[in-house]
Amino acid sequence: MNNIAVFATGRGSNFEQLAQAEKDGRLKAHIALLIAGKPDIGAIEIAKQFGISYSVIDSKQFSNAHNCTQAFISTLEQNKIDIIALAGWLRLLDSALIKRYKNRIVNIHPALLPFFGGKGMYGIHVHRAVKKSGMLVSGATVHLVNEHYDEGKIIKQQAVALEQNDTAEEIAAKVLKVEHRLYSEAINYLVENPVL
Ligand code: GRF
Repeated sequence: MNNIAVFATGRGSNFEQLAQAEKDGRLKAHIALLIAGKPDIGAIEIAKQFGISYSVIDSKQFSNAHNCTQAFISTLEQNKIDIIALAGWLRLLDSALIKRYKNRIVNIHPALLPFFGGKGMYGIHVHRAVKKSGMLVSGATVHLVNEHYDEGKIIKQQAVALEQNDTAEEIAAKVLKVEHRLYSEAINYLVENPVL
């Protein structure tokens, strides 16, 4: 069984859905660890509810990027982690960590990549950009993580129809519903197709 570490810095609704999928027997992997990028976030409360161990690794605690990356790698290795799932993780991962977990790190993005991605495209900014574009479709993308924001190979993608008068917040809610279904399916796909 592959061990997953979920990385989160926010409310953690995708993490919660993954934990629920495992509980229901719908996830073909085991969530062994939450790495929280900040203390006092919703994701930590979810870890406690599901009895998942967690570790807070806040880059601000470290004097340089190298020490921070070493903390990630040693925590992941101690917990025998095979796959990293980013779920609301905003910081770019260091290339040493990406190399160590090559093709084993996934991210979920709240739009149809390769559009509406890249630096600064997170949270409500993504949905405002979709709204401004006039497109009547958006969706969610799960992709492999490389050294560039939102540019790794796409693993799964699901579209959702929008209405002319949807606000950015309404688009976010529609997309989040899709995300919640898609992430466990994408992780299952990665587990079953390890060499992509
Ligand atoms: C999601 O919209 C995800 O696509 C993006 O960050 C958000 C995290 O939400 N990467 P949550 O913390 O999982 O609720």
